[in-house]
Amino acid sequence: MPIRLRLSSTAKPRAPGSRHPAATRLALIVAGLLAILGASAAEDWAWDLPPGFPVPQVPAENPMTKAKVELGRRLFFDPRLSVTGAYACASCHDPARAFTDGRARALGATGEIHPRGTMPLVNVGYNASFGWANPEIRDLEAQAEIPLFRRGPVELGLLGRAGEVMQELENDAGMRAAFQQAFPEIEKRFSVLHVRRALAAYQRTLISANSAYDRYVFYDEKEAMSASARRGMEIFFSDRAGCAGCHPAPLFMSPAVYVGIAAEPRFHNTGLYNLDGEGRYPEGGTGVFEHTRRPGDMGRFRVPTLRNVARTAPYMHDGSIPTLDEVVLHYASGGRNRGPAGERAARNPFQSAELKAFELSARERGDLVAFLESLSDEAPPYSANSEGGDRSISSRR
Ligand code: HEC
Ligand code: HEC
Repeated sequence: MPIRLRLSSTAKPRAPGSRHPAATRLALIVAGLLAILGASAAEDWAWDLPPGFPVPQVPAENPMTKAKVELGRRLFFDPRLSVTGAYACASCHDPARAFTDGRARALGATGEIHPRGTMPLVNVGYNASFGWANPEIRDLEAQAEIPLFRRGPVELGLLGRAGEVMQELENDAGMRAAFQQAFPEIEKRFSVLHVRRALAAYQRTLISANSAYDRYVFYDEKEAMSASARRGMEIFFSDRAGCAGCHPAPLFMSPAVYVGIAAEPRFHNTGLYNLDGEGRYPEGGTGVFEHTRRPGDMGRFRVPTLRNVARTAPYMHDGSIPTLDEVVLHYASGGRNRGPAGERAARNPFQSAELKAFELSARERGDLVAFLESLSDEAPPYSANSEGGDRSISSRR
């Protein structure tokens, strides 16, 4: 049974100046009040989410509209948003790989290597913070600033070129129409702020909820998951393995923010390295420490989603674990704690207390990997979203 994610119209257009029967007057007053309260998006947008999924939090100043999502989608794939004219968000965030790139570390428009790997964007609208280890970026609108403009390394490399790029977009009749529809009430439409807002609106629609796991759990399709994957699920949610403490269902990441639930960013050290016996991680991958310079923040990273994890190899912030089997080994051994010569070193002093070595037979290891593989969407949910227009996003076509 297909899981549908519909973007449905909930309000009929009204002719300006038309007279309304008295009976609808109260409704209009209520609608007006809601609009004042920032809920005007409801006129154009309704989340129709898969079972088990909470409603994403949307900033009041950037309500969801179909036109804005469509503009954001176009911008996400548009190479004019790069210094070379040949690179886009999607060059690193490839929809076919759950918006990652298959590289251990990302490659920027000008050939610079990023110190960390490209993150998946599925369900990114639920994040409490953005980036592997940046506690300060709290919404998608702010995040977009980084790939567009930051140097060291260059991602898209538009620093100092924003005016030029905006002009280029404005010269394109198709883009003029798209910006006009997305930001109808605003004079100065071609601004970086609007680019960021449209990109954010688009990314909030990238919902992943169409895996064998979803069919098994939410649609009661008993045969959706293999016996091995079902055994792996038991292990994943067991106290022995403890995975769900940090990767809870249904999003398999944490912390999550949604309507009614606020959460502060959280980060964990999973014991990938201990270079100096005092917990040091390699340069460029020191985690929250890079931002706070507090010793206890060394090696602390955000918990990434495990949805589509079979498509996002290699793993961890630096792509240093090539396969899911090896990720499972890393956890079962209580953190691989790699020393300076690649040897196993002592336990990292900052390693999360929740991470302890646990017994896992060869068969159970295979089962746990089979479970992780069952979290992949069968068809990218987002691909149906790339046609544009007033449509449904079908997470399974
Ligand atoms: C050069 C490759 C590259 C390009 C181009 C790129 N990104 Fe990224 N993206 C990354 C990397 C690497 C990270 C992780 C950065 C970090 O925190 O270390 C990331 C992280 C993100 C995140 C945070 C995800 C999360 O779960 O926290 C978002 C959102 C994002 N990118 C959106 C975009 C958008 C929108 C664009 C286009 C304007 C874009 N990216 C262009 C490589 C890229
Ligand atoms: C204490 C919290 C915590 C626990 C418990 C935990 N994880 Fe993680 N997990 C993380 C963090 C943090 C990362 C990212 C670490 C990094 O990149 O340095 C991660 C990364 C991963 C990744 C790589 C994802 C990617 O896109 O690169 C996989 C796979 C994974 N965990 C699976 C598991 C499994 C399976 C278990 C149980 C055996 C588990 N995790 C237990 C916090 C946790």
